[in-house]
Amino acid sequence: MELSGRTALVTGAARRIGRAIARGLATRGARVAVHYGRSAADAQALIDEIRAAGGTAEAFAADLADPAAVLALAARVEAELGPVDVLINNASVFYATPLETLGERELDDNLAINLKAPYLLSLRLGRAMRTRGAGKIVSIGDAGATHPYRDYLPYYVSKAGVVALTESLARALAPAVQVNCIAPGPILPPSGASAEDEARILARTPLARFGGPEAVVAAVVYLVENDFVTGTTLVVDGGRSLV
Ligand SMILES: NC(=O)c1ccc[n+]([C@@H]2O[C@H](COP(=O)([O-])OP(=O)(O)OC[C@H]3O[C@@H](n4cnc5c(N)ncnc54)[C@H](OP(=O)(O)O)[C@@H]3O)[C@@H](O)[C@H]2O)c1
Repeated sequence: MELSGRTALVTGAARRIGRAIARGLATRGARVAVHYGRSAADAQALIDEIRAAGGTAEAFAADLADPAAVLALAARVEAELGPVDVLINNASVFYATPLETLGERELDDNLAINLKAPYLLSLRLGRAMRTRGAGKIVSIGDAGATHPYRDYLPYYVSKAGVVALTESLARALAPAVQVNCIAPGPILPPSGASAEDEARILARTPLARFGGPEAVVAAVVYLVENDFVTGTTLVVDGGRSLV
């Protein structure tokens, strides 16, 4: 699929990796719906930047923990920017959940934002893509779903679910819509990581550096532009899962 002239929704697009994805799609001519939760100022700065470069972007707030807000987000984007051709499920929560204090709430929270919101958006927008005869869904998983760090159990359960969601949707929405997953490894240091944390991560990464958001942007562009790839999980982890 050519990105030029398409409408793309990127969740969690105000900051970090999502911001780079939104910018990358806009640079290639897509109209971009910049979804955000709390980062209103960052979202506004991004759409200002995209518009200043001649692109089209609108910001949309929604709490992805609320299923009604997720569905309302899809409807608002369609109403303001037209049918969504490309959905990028990027937003996520990621926080340590040590076994000793782990309970039901942490699982519910991770599943709601990391899995249920992509599920609802993919159904809502994927069915419409199928009816129109074309569309792309890319969800951002995590290479750690198969090689987990300690203390993130609900997060990895949710990200393993994203792979299953991808594979099932790829079958359900074929042949019109292609559905894929990207499994990043160390792209950016986690928010609040210490120098020791970063050194520990890099010591277990064969390519010995953080990949940076553009490594994910390139994977997103590849999966959107290639029409014969569906149901796959593309690992972008600097070799981390080899170790
Ligand atoms: N960073 C890495 O190296 C790495 C490694 C592996 C996988 N990943 C995956 O790559 C993706 C992007 O990573 P990242 O580090 O850039 O993500 P991030 O900074 O942890 O989160 C991205 C955005 O998710 C949004 N979000 C979280 N909860 C929300 C809610 N309830 N409602 C609405 N929005 C919500 C936040 O938006 P607001 O700020 O607007 O509230 C946040 O900016 C994620 O899916 C992550 O799991 C990242």
